[in-house]
Amino acid sequence: MLLGEKGPALRRAMEIIFALGSIYGAGETVPIKSAQISGVSYKNLGEAGLDFLKKWASEGARVLVPAMMNPAGMDLRRWKEMGIPEEFALKQLEVVETLISMGVEPTLTCAPYLGRYRPGFGEHLAWSESSAVIFANSVIGARTNREGGPSALAAAIAGRTACYGFHSDSGREPAYLVEVLCHLKSEADFGALGYLIGRKLVDKTPYLRFCEEHLSGELYLRAMGASMAASGSISLFHAEGLTPEAEVFRSAEFKEPPLTITSLEEAFQALSKPLDRVDLIWIGCPHASLEEIELIASMVKGRRLSTRLWVTSSREIIGKAEEAVEAIEEAGGFVLADTCVVVAPVEALNIKSVATNSAKAAFYLPSWAKVKVVFASLEECIFRYGGLQ
Ligand code: F3S
Repeated sequence: MLLGEKGPALRRAMEIIFALGSIYGAGETVPIKSAQISGVSYKNLGEAGLDFLKKWASEGARVLVPAMMNPAGMDLRRWKEMGIPEEFALKQLEVVETLISMGVEPTLTCAPYLGRYRPGFGEHLAWSESSAVIFANSVIGARTNREGGPSALAAAIAGRTACYGFHSDSGREPAYLVEVLCHLKSEADFGALGYLIGRKLVDKTPYLRFCEEHLSGELYLRAMGASMAASGSISLFHAEGLTPEAEVFRSAEFKEPPLTITSLEEAFQALSKPLDRVDLIWIGCPHASLEEIELIASMVKGRRLSTRLWVTSSREIIGKAEEAVEAIEEAGGFVLADTCVVVAPVEALNIKSVATNSAKAAFYLPSWAKVKVVFASLEECIFRYGGLQ
C-alpha cells in the first residue's frame, strides 16, 4: 500500500498512518472494526479541507470498514429552519457528499455508540471525536487513540491503524488516583467533575474512586468523559466498580499522590456566567440519547417554552423518539439531527447567549462561537431559562 501498488488513494492513507506510527513508535498496524471521522463541519474544514477531501475521493479512495461522520454544521434537512445561510449550506452538503462518495456513512453524530455502531469490548477502532473516543475506551473497553479527522479517514481507507497508545495494554494503565469526595446530583455535576480532572491531569489517565453517593448510568459517565476530553485531552478513565477494566487496576500503586476533589464550585465558576435570560437553551452535547429526549419531553409536554430550545441528537435516535420529539416541538423546541451548536455557524444565527447542561459545550462555546454561557443542570436549563417555573 505504501509503495503505491494499490493506487494513490491507499498510498496517501498509508503515508498518514505510517507517519503517525513512526512518531509514536508503533511497531505494527492493527486491523480496525470501524472509523469515526471528525472535521465534517464546513465551519472547521473550510475550503482547503474540502479540496483535500475531493482530491482524495478523485484518486479513488473508498473505505474498507464501516466509517461514520461526526456532526456537520447544520441539520441536513432542516437547515433553512435553523437559519443557516445558503452559501454555507451548499458547501456543507458538498463535504457530506464527498465523504459519502468514499463510502463514509452520513451518521453525523458524536455518539455513534448509542446506535447500531456500538463497538464491543477489546475491539480496535480509529475514532476521532474526543467524547466518543473516551466513551469507547472507558465505558465500553474498546481501543482507540484520539485520531484526527484525516488519520481516522486514512484508517478507514486502509482498514487498519498504527498500533500504539490505547491499542496496547501498557497504554491503558492509569497514572493518577482521583478520589471524589463530593456528592454528584446531576449530569452537570459529572460534567463539572470531568472539567476539573481534565484541567488538572491534562492528558494522564485517571483511576477514579467515588467516595460519596452518586448517580450512576451511562448518561453521567458520558457527561464526565466529554468534559475531561475537552478541558484536558484525556482519552481513557477507569472508574472503580463502573468501567470494565477498572478491576485490573484496583490495587495499582501510583507514583504521584492522589488528586482529591471535594468541591465542584471552581468548575461552575469557570464555566458559567450569571445571566437572567439567554437566546438559546441547548441540550444534547454529546448527542442526546433516547432517554434524554424522552426526559425533556416529559418536562415540556403540554407547556410553552419562552426561549428557543434546541435538542441535538442523531437521526437514528430521533427516528426512535417520535412521540417525544412531537411533544418538544409542540412546546416550541426544535429537535435537530446531524449537527451541534459548537460546529454550526452560530455567528450567522444571532445567538449571543446559551444555557446548557453540558460542561463540554460550556467550555467550547465562548471561544469557538463567541457566546456567553450559563452552565446548569437540565432541570434548571429547561424550567428556569425556558420560563416554565
Ligand atoms: Fe458532540 Fe458537538 Fe458536543 S460534536 S460532543 S455535540 S461539541
